[in-house]
Amino acid sequence: METLKKIVTEKGTPLLFFSSKEFKESYQNLQKFLPTVKHHYALKPLPLKECVKIIDDCEGYIDIASVGEIEFIKNTRPELLSKAIYTHPIKKLSDISIAIENGVNVMVVDNIIELKKLIPFASEVKILFRLSFSNSEALCDLSEKFGINESTFKELLTVALNNKMNVLGCCFHVGSQMKHPQKHVDAIVKCRELYDWAFVNLKIKFPVLNIGGGFPTMYSENDIDLESYCMPIDSIIKELFFDTEIWSEPGRTVAANSMLAFLQVVGKAEKNGTIWYYLDDGAFNTFSGIFFEHMNYNLFQLNPRDTKDLKSIFTGPTCDGYDILLRDVMFPELEVGDVLFAKRIGAYSWATRTNFNLLGETPIEHYDFNLLEIENFTKNQIKEKYAESI
Ligand SMILES: Cc1ncc(COP(=O)(O)O)c(C=O)c1O
Repeated sequence: METLKKIVTEKGTPLLFFSSKEFKESYQNLQKFLPTVKHHYALKPLPLKECVKIIDDCEGYIDIASVGEIEFIKNTRPELLSKAIYTHPIKKLSDISIAIENGVNVMVVDNIIELKKLIPFASEVKILFRLSFSNSEALCDLSEKFGINESTFKELLTVALNNKMNVLGCCFHVGSQMKHPQKHVDAIVKCRELYDWAFVNLKIKFPVLNIGGGFPTMYSENDIDLESYCMPIDSIIKELFFDTEIWSEPGRTVAANSMLAFLQVVGKAEKNGTIWYYLDDGAFNTFSGIFFEHMNYNLFQLNPRDTKDLKSIFTGPTCDGYDILLRDVMFPELEVGDVLFAKRIGAYSWATRTNFNLLGETPIEHYDFNLLEIENFTKNQIKEKYAESI
């Protein structure tokens, strides 16, 4: 903690810290808890070169969703491209050509128009059909915009086979930040049914099943830990898919723990009994997960002082009235210049930042902080009224 304080004093705020150690540990935890699965890190939640290098060093795999992401991998660890999968179901024709030129041959499809785009490349591409398993409980339901039902899958499969296309199997995404593993297990069971149907009726044995992302991060004590989440998934895979290669596309659970955000109080005002704090990072910048994912991030004091708890609102640096980080929380009174920080902000929130008001990029400092040490430091600062999770 002392080193973090020293760096923040030297560099000033707003400032982000990225810990390679935490990122690596999170990826390795997945490798440990689901040892038979090839985990393709979904680059989107935290597209840093350092992340790509760590995945490569862990002998891992990559999931990309755009030509921009292909370029990024190419400029970082090009050897990973041959192990990459292109999982965005909608592509321009030029996206398909560029992917193939770069050795990315595995592509996800979920409708007839996209399948037809791939027919001219039938000898080169390998297809995964994306199934839909809607989930209103998830932080983001990813089966509304993408994915198909059983009958469409059977229709598309027939078209693919008639055109001599190489179908690897199915994939799905049960929704991001899952609360429990049952939907994941149910989806795997349903896939067994479809794989059996294809074997009996079409004499096809799919070699791959891709169980997507959705693996949780422990934003608060109410969230399930990764080991408990993975246990039933590991069992069902071993029971039903022991002779199939299993892939996944985890994003959040790999990235979230690896970032801390530091910011400071720039201004302060009292209005109708509530203290308004104006900070130098906010919901249009590092904390954009508040808008895009309905997240809440707790704030902690870097140098806690024993001042009186006051009803407080924390706002970001833009002129926009919606730029609010925390509303109506009881918080020890702060002064201009006091430094605050947030934990587990590595997934999506920084990636979806904007440059509204031309406030610029919050710089990233590469430093291997230890999240457990930070947790101990903040333990006494948590107030029941804060919403630490969704
Ligand atoms: C196709 C696909 N795969 C993987 C992911 C990563 O999901 P998560 O961060 O929930 O693990 C996403 C998230 O949007 C996605 O759309």
